[in-house]
Amino acid sequence: MGLVLMLGLIMTLCLVSFAPLSYGYDPLDPNGNITIKWDIMKSEDTSYDVKVSLFNYQLFRHVEPPGWRLSWTWIGDEVIWNMFGAEATLQGNCSRFKGQLPHSCEKQPVIVDLLPGAPYNMQVANCCKGGILSSLIQDPSKYGAGFLMTVGAASTFDAGHAPSAYSIPANFTVKLPGYTCGPPLEVAPSRFPSDSGRRWTQAIGTWNVTCIFSQFRASLTPKCCVSLSAFYNSTIVPCPTCSCRCQGLPGTRCTNSSSKVPSLLQLPHDATEELPPLVSCSQHMCPIKVHWHVKQSYREYWRVKVTISNFNFAKNYSQWSLVMQHPNLRSLTQVFSFNYKPLDQHGTINDTGIFWGIQYYNDMLMHSGDDGNVQTEILLNKDATMFTFREGWAFPRKISFNGDECVMPPPEKYPRLPSSAHTTSFFRFTLLIIPCILFLMFAF
Ligand SMILES: *[C@@H]1O[C@H](CO)[C@@H](O)[C@H](O)[C@H]1NC(C)=O
Ligand SMILES: *[C@@H]1O[C@H](CO)[C@@H](O)[C@H](O)[C@H]1NC(C)=O
Ligand SMILES: *[C@@H]1O[C@H](CO)[C@@H](O)[C@H](O)[C@H]1NC(C)=O
Ligand SMILES: *[C@@H]1O[C@H](CO)[C@@H](O)[C@H](O)[C@H]1NC(C)=O
Ligand SMILES: *[C@@H]1O[C@H](CO)[C@@H](O)[C@H](O)[C@H]1NC(C)=O
Ligand SMILES: *[C@@H]1O[C@H](CO)[C@@H](O)[C@H](O)[C@H]1NC(C)=O
Ligand SMILES: *[C@@H]1O[C@H](CO)[C@@H](O)[C@H](O)[C@H]1NC(C)=O
Ligand SMILES: *[C@@H]1O[C@H](CO)[C@@H](O)[C@H](O)[C@H]1NC(C)=O
Repeated sequence: MGLVLMLGLIMTLCLVSFAPLSYGYDPLDPNGNITIKWDIMKSEDTSYDVKVSLFNYQLFRHVEPPGWRLSWTWIGDEVIWNMFGAEATLQGNCSRFKGQLPHSCEKQPVIVDLLPGAPYNMQVANCCKGGILSSLIQDPSKYGAGFLMTVGAASTFDAGHAPSAYSIPANFTVKLPGYTCGPPLEVAPSRFPSDSGRRWTQAIGTWNVTCIFSQFRASLTPKCCVSLSAFYNSTIVPCPTCSCRCQGLPGTRCTNSSSKVPSLLQLPHDATEELPPLVSCSQHMCPIKVHWHVKQSYREYWRVKVTISNFNFAKNYSQWSLVMQHPNLRSLTQVFSFNYKPLDQHGTINDTGIFWGIQYYNDMLMHSGDDGNVQTEILLNKDATMFTFREGWAFPRKISFNGDECVMPPPEKYPRLPSSAHTTSFFRFTLLIIPCILFLMFAF
């Protein structure tokens, strides 16, 4: 028992020691960020109007429920008089005001998006999505959010001055695991079209805050693993043991029966690091498993079936995404029941693509259980210059789910062609024979 724990610990340490490699930078999405834009629209004697916008500029990482929660620290004694399209979670201590009270007097207000179907007179353009932001690729019309507010009682505020006279709050956060935001930077004022684009108006001043995701900050443990099989070999290569966690180690939670799922389901809303998910007990302990099955070989094509299974009891994954890397994806012919878009990160070598669900059909990956999976089949053209079933070539190089890289089985375990023993000895034979031939050729 002690030995098993020890091995588990060593394994975890090994996994952890790889984590810093992905620190704050994803080679598949090097420019990915969430940008907060702060536009000062109008100012009066003791107040000014701000339009705040959030944009998720990430190719495949989206903002899931419970959604973004934007917060900042006011520099002076500012208050928020009113807000449209979002709301502050706390009104706070407004006892210094008489008569009508401000919307929020908090020094560090926390702003949440309104839910879909909010009263019409509280809505503004781009609001009211419950804090959910799509990734840039999955739904280019839903990656942004916005709200309007009137800021008042700003002691440092000096109406009629240049934009630099406005004191922009500090320490912005989006309260999502793994994200950190930089300081506000003054940028060229935003411009807004009017009269069908014949006239442009502009903000009094505009500031940008950029928030970057870091896998290292979000979670040290992987969240997904890969298992493999092929029609030419009956072995199913499982996810590596302890891919995500080891059963029985402190901090792991698993259950064997869905009827025993306790009321742990409410996660603390303010978590900056995710709690370990409540998963179905398995040797890999991952909330997500991706299975790649080489299903069939035709004369010109080959077919792969990919199944994503949810082992998490505490979560339905909405708007999930899968990024896969395989050299043959450049000759992808058909994708069934998933959406697909190539990610051309190396220019012409497009060996990487993003797959995601079809709206209302399988864009929601249900929690662990009978319905907890989605699947696709893909048809690839056998590219004459490289295609082979040998040496595990038919298996993916890399897979990530919702931007989290999945743990792959070691290559020496991949299902092998039954004849591969012969090919290997043939290969060795050739390796031996060629130098002999060369030697003979040069000797004479
Ligand atoms: C944020 O993403 C946008 C869109 O991809 C990009 O233009 C911008 O340079 C990025 N910002 C930073 C600071 O990386
Ligand atoms: C509320 O704020 C006032 C000053 O604005 C202060 O005197 C009072 O102690 C505060 N009340 C609480 C409960 O913090
Ligand atoms: C922002 O956070 C830093 C570090 O936590 C702190 O030193 C600074 O005082 C904060 N700024 C404001 C305006 O609270
Ligand atoms: C500021 O953010 C806006 C909206 O995201 C973007 O269009 C603009 O390019 C950004 N400016 C800079 C300098 O990053
Ligand atoms: C789940 O079942 C396995 C074997 O059936 C057992 O070893 C393990 O302790 C069980 N775990 C829980 C949390 O019930
Ligand atoms: C997942 O969705 C189903 C159907 O909408 C719902 O019954 C279930 O409670 C959800 N599960 C979780 C963990 O949110
Ligand atoms: C490969 O990339 C090119 C452009 O970079 C694109 O037109 C083509 O559709 C891609 N092919 C596949 C199968 O993804
Ligand atoms: C199937 O693959 C496994 C793992 O590589 C290998 O050990 C086994 O010999 C293969 N089976 C056959 C029938 O070739």
